Amino acid sequence: MNIGIVIVAAGRGERAGSPQDGPKQYRPIGGRPVIAHTLETFLAWHRSGPIVVVIHPDDEDLYASAIAGLPRAGDVMVTFGGDTRQRSVHEGLRALAGSGATHVMIHDAARPFIDLALLDRIAAMLDTGHDGVLPAIPVVDTLKRGGADGLVHETVSRTALYAAQTPQSFTFNEIRAAHDKAAALRRDDFTDDASIAEWAGLPVMLVEGSTDNIKLTVGRDIDMANERLSKRQQRDLLPDVRTGNGYDVHQLVAGDGVTLCGVFIPHDQKLSGHSDADVALHALTDALLATCGAGDIGDHFPPSDMQWKGAPSRIFLEHAARIVREHGGTIMNADVSLIAEAPKVGPHREMMRRNLSDFLGIDMERCSVKATTNETIGFVGRREGIAAIATATVVYRED
Ligand code: CTP
Ligand code: MG
Repeated sequence: MNIGIVIVAAGRGERAGSPQDGPKQYRPIGGRPVIAHTLETFLAWHRSGPIVVVIHPDDEDLYASAIAGLPRAGDVMVTFGGDTRQRSVHEGLRALAGSGATHVMIHDAARPFIDLALLDRIAAMLDTGHDGVLPAIPVVDTLKRGGADGLVHETVSRTALYAAQTPQSFTFNEIRAAHDKAAALRRDDFTDDASIAEWAGLPVMLVEGSTDNIKLTVGRDIDMANERLSKRQQRDLLPDVRTGNGYDVHQLVAGDGVTLCGVFIPHDQKLSGHSDADVALHALTDALLATCGAGDIGDHFPPSDMQWKGAPSRIFLEHAARIVREHGGTIMNADVSLIAEAPKVGPHREMMRRNLSDFLGIDMERCSVKATTNETIGFVGRREGIAAIATATVVYRED
């Protein structure tokens, strides 16, 4: 199967107003002409065969500057359209004849938000042997038929009514023959290709369209498209960096050692509490959860739940890291400050960093452990407990 593409761009855009701004398909949205967005998607689609763009004879310069810089735009064929959309499509089909296309997708240049997923859905229908495929979305508004008198004459049931989109897609020979026949019979009142197919007796299969795939028709559509893309670009410029902090304290009681950042350090005291009472990992777990609003360690591992008694706290940290990743996050850095009078952390610091790097699956360079005493004052100073403060930085990707 070889899917040729016809993009019609020969209209004058009368409903979009402001003739001094030129035809709508060349007006900028998000800094680039409408048609550049449309064409770029087809150029990026792995199943696109030969591509023809149908332009108005007056627009050669506009077209040339619109596609400047688009990769592979040089492979795109260009032909002139006619004074109706139907004629422009017909010209496009003629230009595609002999190119080897067995199928064709016919698309409006004025629909720049066409996406690859919709193209795949349509192609899948062609793959199963359908001669005609129409992307469409069910009508959601209540429909009224109005009269010249300005009154509502009737309410039309919207059951089984769809709004047609493009690209409308067909076996090449069938749609070419239908267009030839319509032209020969001087039937030039078709507003889309599915209606020509229907008229010619070609079955057309509905496929779910995309609500994003709107046709820019009036000036407001172009303004809205521009705002939408500009917002998206601004977002892309600013990475979604989030920082979370966490704090934890555990009491020291008589014992034989403490576990900090997963390292057991022999000592004449131990930390009491939930799990192995690794304050450092608990604080860091909270810091990570905070970057995606996922609550705190107590929400995920209630202290009342006996199964966590004596558990190694790496379980909690690894769980938080998994949640972060499921939200689309990449952990950039983890930093822990331990506040303890004793034991000395310094000799264990590198091992602690190595553990963090291991538990989080990030480079050691991105893991930091620091320690300070509390200058003998307060509960930490009196060796009644150990506290930890942690910070995590995570970059989230747009979804
Ligand atoms: N089109 C075309 N040749 C025409 C008329 C329309 O190639 N003679 C193309 C348009 O460029 C557009 C698509 O068909 O990409 C859909 O048409 P429409 O939205 O109606 O665009 P215009 O005809 O340009 O706008 P208007 O009807 O408001 O003048
Ligand atoms: Mg038109």
